[in-house]
Amino acid sequence: MYNAKKSKKKFKEMNNILITGGAGFIGSHLIRHFIKHYPDYKIINLDKLTYAGNLENLRDIENAKNYHFVKGDICDFNFVKELMELHQINSIIHLAAESHVDRSISNPMEFVNTNVVGTVNLLNVAKAYWSEDYDNKLFYLVSTDEVYGSLGETGLFTETTPYDPRSPYSASKASADHFVRAYQHTYDMPVKLSNCSNNYGSYQFPEKLLPLFINNIKHNKNLPVYGNGKYTRDWLWVVDHARAIDAVYHKGKMGETYNIGGFNEWQNIDLIHLLIEQMDTKLGRPEGTSKELITYVKDRPGHDKRYAIDANKIKNELGWQPSVTFEEGLDKTIDWYLKNEDWLNNVTSGNYQTYYQKQYTKQ
Ligand code: NAD
Ligand code: TYD
Repeated sequence: MYNAKKSKKKFKEMNNILITGGAGFIGSHLIRHFIKHYPDYKIINLDKLTYAGNLENLRDIENAKNYHFVKGDICDFNFVKELMELHQINSIIHLAAESHVDRSISNPMEFVNTNVVGTVNLLNVAKAYWSEDYDNKLFYLVSTDEVYGSLGETGLFTETTPYDPRSPYSASKASADHFVRAYQHTYDMPVKLSNCSNNYGSYQFPEKLLPLFINNIKHNKNLPVYGNGKYTRDWLWVVDHARAIDAVYHKGKMGETYNIGGFNEWQNIDLIHLLIEQMDTKLGRPEGTSKELITYVKDRPGHDKRYAIDANKIKNELGWQPSVTFEEGLDKTIDWYLKNEDWLNNVTSGNYQTYYQKQYTKQ
């Protein structure tokens, strides 16, 4: 068991936050944001380091005085309880999850274990450790807009849209959301939730659309577009998601849910054309060269047609809005992946190769 008492770092006991999944894509940005803006807080990062968790994502802040990493599983009750006791944790921001829809289609049980059982386990640990004295305590679940299902041509997901998850991933996230709300209603657990649209930015594992396609364009590899490419997503720069979580954490009303989005809908194929345009320029290729890489492949089973978020509640009530335009965010993101070749090579070697072969050869 990791022993915090042996750690040389001295923490203030003002705001001791357990962030789960902090070595992943969004978690690492959230930790960087909190370390930078709240030097008096103690941030404990609990992460199992699955294929998606990578300590390289946090190299720049790993020696910060108010930060500590612990490798462990959110499903392990005793381990997490001891960790909470050692660090006198008074709030949890829970991001740890299996997060990729395609993997959930191949292996749903892993999503049930981590996303559902793991979340309920964390709720039980929090309930046991806080002994139902919920003063100054918070359990904050970071969730997804995919719990709302799929939209037609029009309409937006609001905080009151009925849940209608349609993939094993979104079903597991919806279940976690329900459990968090159930713990509030049944045990008075102080909770907050946010449901965000598709994130993009640095340190995203290249199984998701944007980093995968950036990497493939760079290496002149095919761009596997599912179905007719006319699926729509709302895209938000990950740094803005971290800012939104900060706003909900500090200013959001207890027991409430906030939808987070970029006011930025794109059909996949249009987004891919924009990406190609920006990348061809950056790589010094004649305009449109990489369009030849577009390859339409078999559709994802049960592919959700359209997600779109009404993020007006967080905008109006908490004063949050995206800080960059999509073009700016995409530009920064492409530059980061082109500059950080070692990071990309590192995560695309080994097991990733096996996943990639399996995912894109089946027909
Ligand atoms: P990610 O896959 O990049 O990272 C998940 C992290 O959780 C990894 O570091 C992994 O090691 C860790 N983890 C997995 N199982 C664990 C376990 N049992 N115990 C401890 N750690 C474990 O995911 P992400 O894209 O950063 O997403 C983070 C959260 O935000 C997820 O809950 C996801 O559902 C949600 N979300 C993601 C997006 C998006 O676009 N990526 C959008 C909205 C919401
Ligand atoms: P993804 O990044 O997996 O996020 P999500 O499924 O959670 O929205 O996919 C974004 C969109 O891009 C989605 O409509 C599926 C599509 N897509 C492809 O067309 N090809 C791919 O190789 C991937 C990974 C996604």
